[in-house]
Amino acid sequence: MTGQLPRLPKGFLFGAATASYQIEGAVDADGRGPSIWDTFAHTPGAVAGGDTGDVACDHYHRYAEDVELLKQLGAGAYRFSIAWPRIQPDGKGGVNAAGLDFYQRLVDELIDAGITPMATLYHWDLPQPLEDAGGWRERDTAERFADYAAIVHEALADRVPYWITLNEPFCSSFIGYAEGRHAPGAREGHGALAAAHHLLVAHGLAVRAMRAQRKNDERFGITLNMNHVTPATDAPADVAAAARAELLANRVFSDPVLAGRYPEGEVELWGEISDFSFRRDGDLALAHEPIDFLGVNNYFPQYAKDAPSQEPDLSRRVATDIGVVDVPPGSLPQTAMPWPAEPDGLRRLLVWLRDTYRDLPPIYITENGAAYPDTVADGAVDDRARIGYLDGHLRAVGQAIEAGVDVRGYFCWSLLDNFEWAYGYAKRFGLIYVDYQTQQRIPKASYHWYRQLIEQHA
Ligand code: NOJ
Repeated sequence: MTGQLPRLPKGFLFGAATASYQIEGAVDADGRGPSIWDTFAHTPGAVAGGDTGDVACDHYHRYAEDVELLKQLGAGAYRFSIAWPRIQPDGKGGVNAAGLDFYQRLVDELIDAGITPMATLYHWDLPQPLEDAGGWRERDTAERFADYAAIVHEALADRVPYWITLNEPFCSSFIGYAEGRHAPGAREGHGALAAAHHLLVAHGLAVRAMRAQRKNDERFGITLNMNHVTPATDAPADVAAAARAELLANRVFSDPVLAGRYPEGEVELWGEISDFSFRRDGDLALAHEPIDFLGVNNYFPQYAKDAPSQEPDLSRRVATDIGVVDVPPGSLPQTAMPWPAEPDGLRRLLVWLRDTYRDLPPIYITENGAAYPDTVADGAVDDRARIGYLDGHLRAVGQAIEAGVDVRGYFCWSLLDNFEWAYGYAKRFGLIYVDYQTQQRIPKASYHWYRQLIEQHA
C-alpha cells in the first residue's frame, strides 16, 4: 500500500454488498417460509460451530441503522438480495405481502439516503418446498423462479435500476449438489450438471419476464464467481489441468451467458456423467439472453496442478472431481479462508474476459473482499490487512480499465460481518464489525479508509 489512495475514473460506482440469509435473521417473521439454508444450517455438522442464520445480524429489524451506515460511508450503491421464501413461502403461488413489504421499506430507505439499490433475486435461499420437489435438478424450479422474478420486479422496478438474477450459480449447483458443502448438501455427478443447466435457464427466463414488463431503464445482469487460472507449471499435464479448472470455474457459465455456446471439452471433463438430456432446443438462446451488465465476484486466482481424481469409482464421482488441485505460490499472502491474496489476479481475470468474449457487456465487480481474524481493542478494529487487500484490488481494477476493460463499479464484500455459509460466524468479511451478542455495529478502520476513498472521488 502506498500513501495515495487508488484512483478510479469519474462516475465509477462505489458500493458494498450483502445477502439475505447472511444478514437478515428473522427467519419466522411475517410469513417467511423455510429455505434450503434453514434446513441445512440446522443439520448437525453442516455448519462450523453449529451456527445458523436464525438471527444473523438481525438486519430485518435493524435495516434503517444499516442504511445509515451506508450513507455515512458515502456509498453510491448497495447490493442486497431478496429472500424468495419471504415473497413466496412455498416457492410458488400468491405473494406474501408482508414479506415483500420489508423490501419496499428497505428500498425506500435507500432512496431517501441517496443510495442506488442493486437487487439480487437469488442468493442461494431456495424455498424448501421446491427442493423437496427436486430443487434445481428440475426444470420446474427455473419456471417458478421466473414467476418470482416477475413479481418482485413488478413491485420494485420503479425504484430499483439494477437487477441481478442469480448470484454465483457455480456455488448453487456445484457446491450445493456436488461437493455438498452448501445447501442442499447433495454429493452428485449428474444432478449437479442438471442444476447448473436449470440455473442458466432460470436466468434467461427471468430476464425475459422482467424485460417484458420494463418500467424505466432498468439494467438486467447476472453475477458469476470467476477466477483467473494459471497452470502451476509448464508441464503439459498441468496445462491440461488448468484448462479443466478454467472450464469448471468460469466457462461452464460464462460461455453460455456471454457467447451462447456450451464450453468445449465438457464431455471429456465429465466423462460418464455427461448425459445432457435435460437440455432443450432454445435453452442456449435463453442462457444467452442479452444482459446489460455482467456482475463479477472475485476473491483469488487459481494455480492448477494435475492430480489423480479422488474417487476411482465412476458411479460415485461428484461433478467437481476433475483431477485438479490448486497450488497457489507459497509467496502469496493468505486471508483467513485461507485464500491466496493476489490483486493482479483480478486484473488478469478482467483482461481474460475482454480477450475471450466479443461483445462483453459492462462489468460491475459485485463482490471482492477478504476475511481476517478481526478483534476489537478500545472500541476500534484495526484491520490494516483488509485495507491492503482492498487497496490492491481497487488498483488492479484501475489497471484493467486502463487496459481497456469496461468496469463501471465495485462492491465491497461485505458491508457487515455476517453468516459465512459453512464457516458460520467465524469468518469476518465486513467493513463493519458485528458483535453478535449485542448486535452492536463497529465500523472498522477499512470502513473509514473506504469512506475517504469514496469522498476523494466525489
Ligand atoms: C461469495 C458469496 O456470494 C458470498 O455470499 C460469500 O459470503 C462470499 N463469496 C465470501 O465467501
